[in-house]
Amino acid sequence: MIYKITEMLNMLHQEHIAAHLLSLPDAEQRSMTAQISELDLSVLSAAQTNQQRGAFSPLLATTRREIEQNRSRFTEIGLDAIRSGKVGAVMLAGGQGSRLGFDRPKGMFNIGVSRELYIFECLVNNLLEVTKQAGAWIPLFIMTSVDNNRETRDFFEEHNYFGYSGDNIFFFVQEQLPTVDTNGKLMLSAKGTVSTAPNGNGGWYASMSKTGMLKVVRDAKIEWLNVFAVDNVLQRIADPCFIGAVIESGKVSGAKVVAKAEPEERVGVLCLEDGKPSIVEYYEMTDEMVHRREADGTLSYNYGVILNYLFRVDRLDQTLSVKLPLHRAFKKLKYMNAAGEMIVPDEPNAYKFETLALDMVRLQENCLAYEVDRSREFAPVKNRTGTDSIDTARELLLRNGIAL
Ligand code: UTP
Repeated sequence: MIYKITEMLNMLHQEHIAAHLLSLPDAEQRSMTAQISELDLSVLSAAQTNQQRGAFSPLLATTRREIEQNRSRFTEIGLDAIRSGKVGAVMLAGGQGSRLGFDRPKGMFNIGVSRELYIFECLVNNLLEVTKQAGAWIPLFIMTSVDNNRETRDFFEEHNYFGYSGDNIFFFVQEQLPTVDTNGKLMLSAKGTVSTAPNGNGGWYASMSKTGMLKVVRDAKIEWLNVFAVDNVLQRIADPCFIGAVIESGKVSGAKVVAKAEPEERVGVLCLEDGKPSIVEYYEMTDEMVHRREADGTLSYNYGVILNYLFRVDRLDQTLSVKLPLHRAFKKLKYMNAAGEMIVPDEPNAYKFETLALDMVRLQENCLAYEVDRSREFAPVKNRTGTDSIDTARELLLRNGIAL
């Protein structure tokens, strides 16, 4: 076994790891061999990033005005689906939150000022508003990572699931992929361990399948899954009006979007690519696309995604056999250097490989773009200070009447 592994490492130009492996005492050698044999090393040779893109065209949203005019009908349809047990929610909480620089699961961050108010708690409070309105629990699936799973579960348990029903919360762990330094070389995270990181938020459905969560989904006859990021403290989860609008539209997916603050805003925009729903990144847009307007003056590429999607479960099954594109993200990642010292970098130093939830949208036949008011629904906590930070999220929470 070990010779097969070292041969493969040499073939992949990872001679330093092969040599390190051979230098280890027996027990460590065995466990590192086992770890490497489980890793998907194809990422090392995959041609990543710059995917070949198709022809883009605009995808206009159901506007806030249109939603207001139909709110009560949409809401009733959504509540009905929730009461019939057709809706589940999936929290993506496996990220490393490296920009925030908080060494624990991001949801454990206390956003309160004169009281404790954790990010997880904000999200559960938002969901509780819906379950109270519906008079029914919504199964909540929480995706964690190998590193933060135990802490996340314990935290929820210690806080009594923040008033949610523990029987309706299901934790599952996403997979890991190896990380590489700027020369494409594998790194160590401990003497007998190759450094790995969570494989991005695009693997959530595949991880639900591998961990047996899809059995829960099927047994409960859940038809729709609302997937959302852990770090938006104003996130509306299983929003009945959104669910109702998507169901009534007959579409197989929906995405909450916000109108851009200005044409140049750096957000991924929901659009069509070769006639299918897709997200174009701000850096992929031509100048013509950035400034193009519809007859009524609205920007043609106006609607930024906020990582809140609704997917029809039967249409997700077919995505299990598709390989999503792999993106490289440059991050601050701890590692062990050749001298055996642990290094905690101040600046990004290594690449992790990720698939992205937004690439699941491209696999859907269609998608309802559903416009929401960003000042009421979008307060991401990405950084310590500045844009999308603890400060901006606190300000938005206060503006929405949430005491801190
Ligand atoms: P981000 O792309 O902001 O990544 O995640 P991150 O790891 O949380 O933070 P940085 O970039 O290191 O600062 C967006 C959402 O996707 C989840 C995150 O938890 C967050 O809800 N995510 C991200 C996962 O669940 N798994 C991953 O592997 C990556």
